[in-house]
Amino acid sequence: MFKESIKKALSKFGIGVYRLNGKYAEDGFITAHTDSFRGDPCFRQAYERGIRSSDGVDPHFEWRVHAALWAAQTSLRVPGDFVECGVNAGFISSAVMQYLDWNRVGRRFFLIDTFSGPVLDQYSEHEVQASRRDIAVAAMNAGSYVTDLERVRANFAEWPSATVIQGAIPDVLQTAPIEQVAFLHIDMNCALPEQAALEFFWDRLPSGGAVLLDDYAYLGHDCQRRAIDHVARRFHRTVLVLPTGQGLIIR
Ligand SMILES: C[S@@+](CC[C@H](N)C(=O)[O-])C[C@H]1O[C@@H](n2cnc3c(N)ncnc32)[C@H](O)[C@@H]1O
Repeated sequence: MFKESIKKALSKFGIGVYRLNGKYAEDGFITAHTDSFRGDPCFRQAYERGIRSSDGVDPHFEWRVHAALWAAQTSLRVPGDFVECGVNAGFISSAVMQYLDWNRVGRRFFLIDTFSGPVLDQYSEHEVQASRRDIAVAAMNAGSYVTDLERVRANFAEWPSATVIQGAIPDVLQTAPIEQVAFLHIDMNCALPEQAALEFFWDRLPSGGAVLLDDYAYLGHDCQRRAIDHVARRFHRTVLVLPTGQGLIIR
């Protein structure tokens, strides 16, 4: 009763009080709403497979993986390959393939990355000023970017239709035999290649295909958001901002 009257009093000042005990709070995001997907055994298996790809490291971003699984599953309604631009150890793509039982899906999954970290001269002046390049260098020095291609290939070996492509976007895209894309995941932490990937694949996405942008609204990644908005405007689209920091476009 006492608690209720405090809640009522605070609400008069526009302050809502929610019970957050046991609720989702990770990856820069806290909510009082349900996170029931976390209890789904298929989700758990997919997330565990992601952890296995990254040598047992859990980045604690379950809602982001939930969004990726949803977008990937929804993309199965339209024809085309799956593509990830920015793979690293393969956390999210491994989770997707586990979740969708990839060997039964009968599609190709292209996994594109330099496998030597971000391309430092691709950072714009604004990104340099916002310390994005310094952050990338620090991550490379800390060993956060996977450079062992054999390790990556071994991770994906259970899915024969997964193709690992090593090279820098945009140039490497010209060499990739990809004609139609149902699901595109863009996650390179740098505006130039992300913008180029969206421009390259847009006309290859059928209506209903999904583009998931890992860092679109993430704290500190404004240059990527602005670059993507610029392209999206040309295609007469806006991006759905997810509270995880991701962005979503359905073609
Ligand atoms: C944040 S990680 C990707 C994480 C991954 N999606 C996951 O699920 O864990 C960013 C990756 O983008 C790659 N990358 C950055 N710039 C690139 C470019 N121009 N071409 C290809 N890969 C690039 C880096 O090598 C790095 O592995």
